[in-house]
Amino acid sequence: TGLAGLLSGDFKLGTALSNTTLLGQNPDIEALVAWEFSAITAENAMKWEEVHPDAETWDWQRADHFVDYGHRNGMYNIGHTLVWHSQIPESVFVDGHGRLRPAADVNKTMETHIATLAGRYRGKIHAWDVVNEAVTDEGQWRESHWYKSQGEDYFSRAFHLAREVDPNAELLYNDYNMTIPAKRDFALAQITKFRSRGMPIHGVGMQAHVHLSDPEIARLEASIETIAAAGLDVHITELDVDVLPQAYDYMGAEISTNFEYSDELNPFAEGLPQNVVDELAARYESLFRLFLKHKDKIRRVSLWGTTDGESWKNDWPVRGRTNYPLLFDRDGNPKQAYRAIAGLKTSV
Ligand code: G3I
Repeated sequence: TGLAGLLSGDFKLGTALSNTTLLGQNPDIEALVAWEFSAITAENAMKWEEVHPDAETWDWQRADHFVDYGHRNGMYNIGHTLVWHSQIPESVFVDGHGRLRPAADVNKTMETHIATLAGRYRGKIHAWDVVNEAVTDEGQWRESHWYKSQGEDYFSRAFHLAREVDPNAELLYNDYNMTIPAKRDFALAQITKFRSRGMPIHGVGMQAHVHLSDPEIARLEASIETIAAAGLDVHITELDVDVLPQAYDYMGAEISTNFEYSDELNPFAEGLPQNVVDELAARYESLFRLFLKHKDKIRRVSLWGTTDGESWKNDWPVRGRTNYPLLFDRDGNPKQAYRAIAGLKTSV
């Protein structure tokens, strides 16, 4: 069925489910996703602060819905994410008096979190983003609470734990800007080092929050090839195409989420002009042409949402803009970009 059906001989096609959808508030989106996609990721519902807001509290409602929905529809379910520096309660690392918790306690907390979350869904999650965004764009370990508390070993411990808890799940490292050679090569060097010591890992997720022409196809291709050459499956994760003016220089400058809204930064509030519709479709077409060329290396391509209206790109890095990054419009209708991808499979 749908686009996933057209691509079924190539790779799985995924999307992300928002919290509102997982609360049952978007039946139309649920039906659309079941028809068009073969893989799902929870956009937020399995993140630490949402599912495990404090040590004794677990909130399973949305995560359970996610897993049930995927199971009912025969989806490939991706768990996102076990260990990340963001969207995690401060209390994991700092006690009530503002003191850093002992490293052994932090490690124990990570063990409990992975055992409880991955354990609850053992056999029902096909792939886990075990660690998310551990490396900087410059190619160093990110100085997260995890790293400061545990050193680099937290990375491999997370993978070993995930393997113990759910031995059949594919285990992934997921990060953005993996087209930056310094970042990609550092991540791959660490993975290769830990792997030689027995760390289980199956693949790397390349988050693909791209723009109309950035990064270039050649850079994406180089990273797909380099990851595959390291003996890892490539997962294209979190794909969306931002059509709005970039509000920051993401290659260098500090990223701020506090930009003020301005009309200049929100030029398409009334609709997307046809020339940009064409550009967006052409961008998606060339991305999928690249993915199809490397389908032997790519296990899955996941969009970061289904309709333009639900995309985080309307609110980041500037809140309240009107963006058009996905394959379905605000009413759930397939866009020209959708038809451009489908055309790659139907026009012989
Ligand atoms: O849950 C609260 C809710 O209680 C509150 O009323 C509401 C008011 O703002 O906020 C809700 O939390 C928001 C959450 O999404 C759930 O909707 C947060 O403010 C908001 O910051 C959060 O944004 C998410 C973001 O991760 C957080 O870092 C985006 O939806 C989500 O698309 C985005 O996804 C990440 C991937 O996980 C990792 N890679 C990058 C990607 C984009 O940032």
